[in-house]
Formats: sequence, C-alpha cells, structure tokens
Amino acid sequence: MTELNDFLEQNFDRFDNTLIDFLKIPSISAQPERKGDMRTACEFLMKYLSGIGLEPRICETPGHPIVYAEHLQAKGKPTALIYGHYDVQPVDPLDLWHSPPFEPVVKDGIIYARGAADDKGQLMAHVHAIEAFLKNGGELPINVKIVFEGEEEIASEHLDDFIEANKDMLKCDLAIISDTAQFGKDMPALTYGLRGIAACEVKVTGPNRDLHSGSYGGAVANPINILCSMVAQLHDAKRHITIDGFYDDVTPIADWEKKEFARLPFDEKEYIKGLGVKALEGEAGFTTLERKWARPTLDCNGIYGGYMGDGQKTVLPSWAGCKITMRLVPNMDPNKVCDQLEAYLKKIAPPSVEVEVRKFGGAKAAIVSKDNPIMQAAEKALEDGFGKRPFYIREGGSIPIVNTFKEMLGVDTILLGLCQPDCNAHSPNEFFGLDDFHRGIKSAVTLYRELAAMRI
Ligand code: BES
Ligand code: MN
Ligand code: MN
Repeated sequence: MTELNDFLEQNFDRFDNTLIDFLKIPSISAQPERKGDMRTACEFLMKYLSGIGLEPRICETPGHPIVYAEHLQAKGKPTALIYGHYDVQPVDPLDLWHSPPFEPVVKDGIIYARGAADDKGQLMAHVHAIEAFLKNGGELPINVKIVFEGEEEIASEHLDDFIEANKDMLKCDLAIISDTAQFGKDMPALTYGLRGIAACEVKVTGPNRDLHSGSYGGAVANPINILCSMVAQLHDAKRHITIDGFYDDVTPIADWEKKEFARLPFDEKEYIKGLGVKALEGEAGFTTLERKWARPTLDCNGIYGGYMGDGQKTVLPSWAGCKITMRLVPNMDPNKVCDQLEAYLKKIAPPSVEVEVRKFGGAKAAIVSKDNPIMQAAEKALEDGFGKRPFYIREGGSIPIVNTFKEMLGVDTILLGLCQPDCNAHSPNEFFGLDDFHRGIKSAVTLYRELAAMRI
C-alpha cells in the first residue's frame, strides 16, 4: 500500500512529462489531414503500454485505429473494461488560445493544451494506475481490458462494429471511463447519467443561383431568411421544443432526483459570472441543473449561407444551411428524433423553398443505477484519491459508447470524472489541473482494489 503510494509520489513528475509529450500530438479525429497524427498518438500509447509490461495491439477500423490491451491474471476477480479516447476536438478559434494548443504549458500547477482534460489526461490516469501495480509486484488486483479509441469526438462511428465483432474478447463485468468532470473545485463527483445525442444538417434551397438582392428581393424567397425563421420556430416562447412528438418518449425527472439536484451546492450566480452572460435561459418550469442534465434540448451548432466575406455584397443567396444537435434523455431514440425534426421542418417550410435534412443519427442516453455495488467502489475510490466524498451528478454531454456497453456487453459503466467542469473542453485554453491528475491516478488505484474486494 505505502509502497505503491511512494511509487506514485516519486513518479508524478515523470507522469506529467509523459502527458506533455502525449499532448504535443495533434490527434484531431475530425480533420483528414491529421490522419498521420492520429497514428502517431496510437503509437505513443502502444509504446507506453508496452513499456509498462502490457502487450498492446492496434485494431484497425475503417476509420481511426483502436488500441487494445489486456491483463487477465487476477483469477476469480472481476474484469473491468477501461475505455478512453486519444482523439481531440479541433482547436479553432485559434486566436483565442493564450498558448498554442499543441505546445502544452504548465502554469500554477495547471496544464494547458488541447486534449489535456478531454481525454488524454484522464486516459493516462488509468495507464499510470495500472503501471503502478505492474511495476510494484507485477500483479493487478482485477482483470483489465483496455480500449482506447480515436473516434469519440466524431461520434464513435466504428466502435459499435468493433464491439459487436469482438464480443468475446471484450467480455467484462463492468466498464470504467474517466472522461467526465467533477462538480467543482475540490468537489469530486460520480456521474450516473449522460445525455444522448442526435445530429442533423439542414439545407434550404431557393432559386437556382445567387441573385441580385435589389432586382429580386421581394419577389423570391431568401433561403437564409426562411431558414432563420424555421430555426426560430423550433422553440416556443417558453423554450419548449415544438417538433411534433418530440417529448413522447421522454423519461420525466423523478421527484427524488429533483430533490437531490436541488441539494447540490450549485452556485448559479458564480455560474453566470463564469460564463459572462447576463442571465441564464432555457425550458420553463425546470431548474438549471434539471435543464442541462435531464431534459432534452435542441441547439443550432452553425448556420451559413450567402456572402460572409469583408464589406457588403447585395446577394440573395441560392441556399442556406445549418447544423443541429439535440441532446436526449433516457428512452429517446436518436433516429426517431431526427425523423421527427425532418418531418416538422418540411411541414413548416413555405412552398417557395426545398428543404433537405441529412441525418447523422447519434447515441442514446445512459443511466447507471446508483444501487449497483460498483458505484460504492467508485465512491470509496474518489474519497480516497480526493479526500472528499463524491457528489452524485448527471452530465449534459454524451459518451456514445456507454449505452453500447450496456446494450452489447450488458455492463454498467463507472464514470470517474477527474477534470473541472469549466476545463474548456472543446474550447480555447483547455486545461487539466496536475493535482486532479495525480488524485485521479490515486483514485484509479483504489478503485481497482475496491473492485477486487467485491463479488460481481
Ligand atoms: N468527454 C466528452 C463528454 C462530456 C462532455 C463529459 C461534457 C463531460 C462534460 C466527450 O468527449 C464528448 O465531447 N462527447 C461528444 C460526443 C459527440 C461528438 C457524439 C459530445 O458530448 O458532444
Ligand atoms: Mn471526452
Ligand atoms: Mn469531447
């Protein structure tokens, strides 16, 4: 026990430097020109995992590769599938970064770089926890199967097929993911719910070419004007979503859960201040935490069309488009809501334009029962690593694979979130506190031990 702790204390600096090297690799899964960097990130993991005594292998997919490794020497003990993602989000807007996204900077014990929190830092916490056991006695208290994928930030397109094709290899008793956040500074949290996601792209087409807005304005529909009015009609004045049937499958928030949410030390004023907004906004009749964790939402992620260069151009554009994502709560189906969105947009579109909806599908929401004994193990692990009992929280974001683990492998997932909720994931100046990194490694060590003591 102390031996392992000493090992960790003596190696934290080296772990920090390893993370810095990992963060220098611009593994942006969305950008085809980064394909080589994706491979480099994969090889980085291969090399590190080999170095600690595992025998990792690269599993090719039609997209980015998956790194797989296993250690199955703990006879009679539970098997945990440890998942993380080595891909990161694009970096733009680049000019808002205080230091280049792939030149990690450590300032006041915080490491700034794209992927620091989401998810390279959190992924490495488990690698080092495993390393600590392997380098101090050579045995792990549980069996582990490691899956590090490179397509999480682009909706894990090929991961379901990989799992389906390798069900036996991936057979396990539970999954562990560190890819969520704490509730706040020194407020460790166990996440027991994630929202799902459904994504679509909408294109509104009018005249067969761009037109002079003076000669034709007033005679012909402007696709940008139409699209904006259609997007505006997706919510009513109370911020309910107006799509027919959208709420049909929504699981309502239970009374006990509303009470639990209300008891959390959520400082709405601080939250508002941190965001630089004058007020919050959302569906009437629900609190902020309810709205972002347990109610479905619809957001336009980008809208485009016409002339977007300098100065003015008097054009009546031929088309306009936008991207939309909807966040889903348990029991909603991503394909169904995409179909409902399409039907509604076509219903409200005026006859002067053509509407096309490209449906990308998405992922279902996930809930882990708080009564599952693996949650008690996770609670003890966080308490040991962070010195405080964790809060139970839900999360508005999505990790597509969590529901797949449940459906295909029949297992629940421990979401052991290590970063801060305002860590700027997907934004400029993403960061991960080295204290959280180190406490996360300790928590993972304790988690494996606690799971070993359990009968699953
Ligand atoms: N790590 C996040 C999920 C997350 C978001 C956890 C917010 C905690 C707070 C994950 O990498 C992510 O960004 N997921 C995407 C999934 C999408 C691309 C299918 C998301 O939620 O947008
Ligand atoms: Mn992530
Ligand atoms: Mn992410």
